[in-house]
Amino acid sequence: MNKLYFSDCLKVLKDLHKAHPEGFIDLVYIDPPFNSKRDYNILFESVDMKDTKAQKEAFSDTWSNVSYLDTLSEIQYLDLDLYNFLTTLDNIRVSKSAVSYLTTMAIRIYYIHKVLKNTGSFYLHCDPTMSHYLKIICDLVFGTKRFRNEIIWHYKRWPAVQKNYQRMHDVILFYSREHGLNIFNTQLGKLSEGTIKRWKGKKSKVEFEGDIRLITRMTDEDSIGRPIDDVWDIAVINSQAKERLGYPTQKPEDLLEIIIKASSNEGDLVADFFCGCGTTIAVAQRLKRNWIGVDISHLAIKLILDRLTNPYQGPRAKVIRESIQVSGFPVDLAGAKMLAENLITVDLDFKTGSLK
Ligand SMILES: C[S@@+](CC[C@H](N)C(=O)[O-])C[C@H]1O[C@@H](n2cnc3c(N)ncnc32)[C@H](O)[C@@H]1O
Repeated sequence: MNKLYFSDCLKVLKDLHKAHPEGFIDLVYIDPPFNSKRDYNILFESVDMKDTKAQKEAFSDTWSNVSYLDTLSEIQYLDLDLYNFLTTLDNIRVSKSAVSYLTTMAIRIYYIHKVLKNTGSFYLHCDPTMSHYLKIICDLVFGTKRFRNEIIWHYKRWPAVQKNYQRMHDVILFYSREHGLNIFNTQLGKLSEGTIKRWKGKKSKVEFEGDIRLITRMTDEDSIGRPIDDVWDIAVINSQAKERLGYPTQKPEDLLEIIIKASSNEGDLVADFFCGCGTTIAVAQRLKRNWIGVDISHLAIKLILDRLTNPYQGPRAKVIRESIQVSGFPVDLAGAKMLAENLITVDLDFKTGSLK
């Protein structure tokens, strides 16, 4: 059954690791908040959401300077190299908010590595302000040999006047759980009309032309293409985009489609531990993967349930809704109201406080 957790993902990750010590997830993609207050302020203020105060506090608590020292000492017993790296940052001229952010991410990345299968893959979506630090954390947790790609998501938006080159890309770090074991289905990009014409009618299935490997099947144009590289040109979700839900950090489905098709097969389990309005979940569902989604915001959980069921009417919507189990516990009044209004059954073991 597909599962949506309304919770801090660290709690979910620890519970999942306890239940599946050998690892059980095929693909994890995460797009955590970047290290900026602006990011979570816009998240809660720009959407039509009542009673945001408690939600905002719960959210910023996770990333605050208060909890990072506790987390740091927890890391000391999990991975000494990780601990030494973070304490070194803490002792040099790196801002406290950056160290706090990196500590918060490090412990979650540590558990993500644990819940992956041996054949699994991990994609971490970040931006150039933190990607260099996050890469060292991933190198320590996964091992440098497991680093597969630094993917550049190049987007276009209206340029602003400023004294530097326009910032138009995000970074996605791609790691495999084990060296050489990860599932990887090569994705093909489109060829130019001219190249297709030249190659039509050629008999061979795989040919080489310069550095371009052309995979051709004479009658099936869809399977003609060149393996895509690590720079992806994909439009951002702007106000005109059909898939736009109004969630400020929503990512395009085209981006997740490449990742999910490349690093999983039908029936595999895909997880997003910072799932926002559910782009990963929606694409995984469409591509017939099983999925787990986690978000600390009740707004996100509500949006995901609507996103998955709204395109359908009556019985089909009911079947989809019934195929999703929601676990979690409201941290504020608005969350409790949302759960009650949507008749979401919460699956929580009250004795242990663990999510089922
Ligand atoms: C950048 S957004 C993800 C957007 C998503 N990729 C999409 O396309 O909608 C980051 C999300 O992480 C969630 N979040 C922040 N801290 C969290 C935590 N500790 N555990 C789980 N989710 C968290 C936020 O509520 C937010 O929805």
